[in-house]
Amino acid sequence: MSKLYIFDTTLRDGEQVPGCQLNMEEKIEVALALEALGVDIIEAGFPISSPGDFQSVSEIAKVIKNTTICGLTRAVEKDIEVAAQALKYAQRKRIHTGIGTSDYHIKYKFNSNREEIIERAVKAVKYARRFVDEVEFFAEDAGRTDNAYLARVLEAVIKAGATVLNIPDTTGYTLPHQYGEKIAYLVNNVPNIDKAILSTHCHNDLGLATANTLSGVINGARQVEVTINGIGERAGNTSLEEVVMAIKQHQELDFTTNIDPKKIYHTSRLVSNLMNMPVQPNKAIVGKNAFAHSSGIHQDGVLKNKETYEIINPEEVGIELNAIILTARSGRAALNHKLQLLGYDFSKEKLDEVYEKFLLYADKKKEEITDEDLMIIVGDKNEEDKTITLEFLQVTSSSEAHPNAIVHLRIKGELYEATAVGNGPIDAGIRAIQKIVGNKYTIHSFNLHGITDGSDDLSKAFIEINDEHLKFRGFSSSTDVVKASINAYIEALNKAI
Ligand code: KIV
Ligand code: ZN
Repeated sequence: MSKLYIFDTTLRDGEQVPGCQLNMEEKIEVALALEALGVDIIEAGFPISSPGDFQSVSEIAKVIKNTTICGLTRAVEKDIEVAAQALKYAQRKRIHTGIGTSDYHIKYKFNSNREEIIERAVKAVKYARRFVDEVEFFAEDAGRTDNAYLARVLEAVIKAGATVLNIPDTTGYTLPHQYGEKIAYLVNNVPNIDKAILSTHCHNDLGLATANTLSGVINGARQVEVTINGIGERAGNTSLEEVVMAIKQHQELDFTTNIDPKKIYHTSRLVSNLMNMPVQPNKAIVGKNAFAHSSGIHQDGVLKNKETYEIINPEEVGIELNAIILTARSGRAALNHKLQLLGYDFSKEKLDEVYEKFLLYADKKKEEITDEDLMIIVGDKNEEDKTITLEFLQVTSSSEAHPNAIVHLRIKGELYEATAVGNGPIDAGIRAIQKIVGNKYTIHSFNLHGITDGSDDLSKAFIEINDEHLKFRGFSSSTDVVKASINAYIEALNKAI
């Protein structure tokens, strides 16, 4: 079996997503989880991009012992010096430098020409090799780069000392057979290719990232660049869990990875919680419905023999199904066990606090408490930590008049009141809040879901607002849909402020 190297870029390409930024402690927590999961390389950040990124890469480099730590740079000497400085304490280090190679990038981004780009690439690689032994070169927009030219670039950077060659499908444009053919072309047409490892880096704009990555591997790539839950700019990157499990399920491909699949679910929950980025329910491997069988025919089949409709045993990826069902009668130990599976590790005091909230919630819901419920309970910040709190909300809705809302908000201790009319009670409530806080933030998306099924159901509201640069998310639940929505909006405002 050949070893497939797993290069995780959750903390760099994944963290570039607006609204998903982590603080340094959170990044270290994710890095430790990635090391425990068994990834071979952690791309910890882009050190020159900000002092925060520099410090995070540097701190991660100090605590991680067994995994290679990588820092991204442009093909610019200053970037490379700063990355080398950030990686100073790493036991194993790699600089990832590169430049756009497609004609789009050469012409519009660099106002340059093909020969000059080769010179800049070679110079950057040589410079990076002065600081580290492992230099990865990325040919940005390789997906749309002419193959013959790409082969010339790679031949030159290998001569300059590159040890890994990243072939990004930056725009997520290629089809699986095209990406595979590109990798095969490089294997066959770069004369010194045996001196380096080819790496895939696929974006998911057409939903093809995993398929393209696997096609790259089948055709000669030996490293894959991935993120947990497939997070990343726009439609995201290739998701680690999909590639790892596809490789594991298809033994005939003859690859092995260093990943401990049992840690996949825990890592997925940790990243989703810390980045405030919910996982879509039907997401392969880690989505809430990935192992749920709801149709009668499927349930019957699975009860007779799991393998009729299940290709992976959920326990293989660390999902414990129904082993412990949480209800209002559950104790702290059961709650803690579930919380740990979801990626939380609380002190005794914090657990006591969450347990109290859990009991109130479970009492109201009167049914099993699901993972989503727990995330809502845990995400429920203390009132005193918030800048804006809702003191009073009254909405009137009738068949005869437009809905009307009265809102009282406390902002930094001061009480503000407003009344507004809207095209529905939620709209009226939000308009009343906007009369108080202004409408600098636009509502970018708004979702309301029932958690169970009845008319006494708890509803979950998810709202995303943005200013010109950033997005902020708010999340709340209540048996009252208006309250859930208004609280979610206030939570997003609190994050924005
Ligand atoms: O998608 C891309 O091209 C990248 C490079 C910077 C490696 O993320
Ligand atoms: Zn990328």
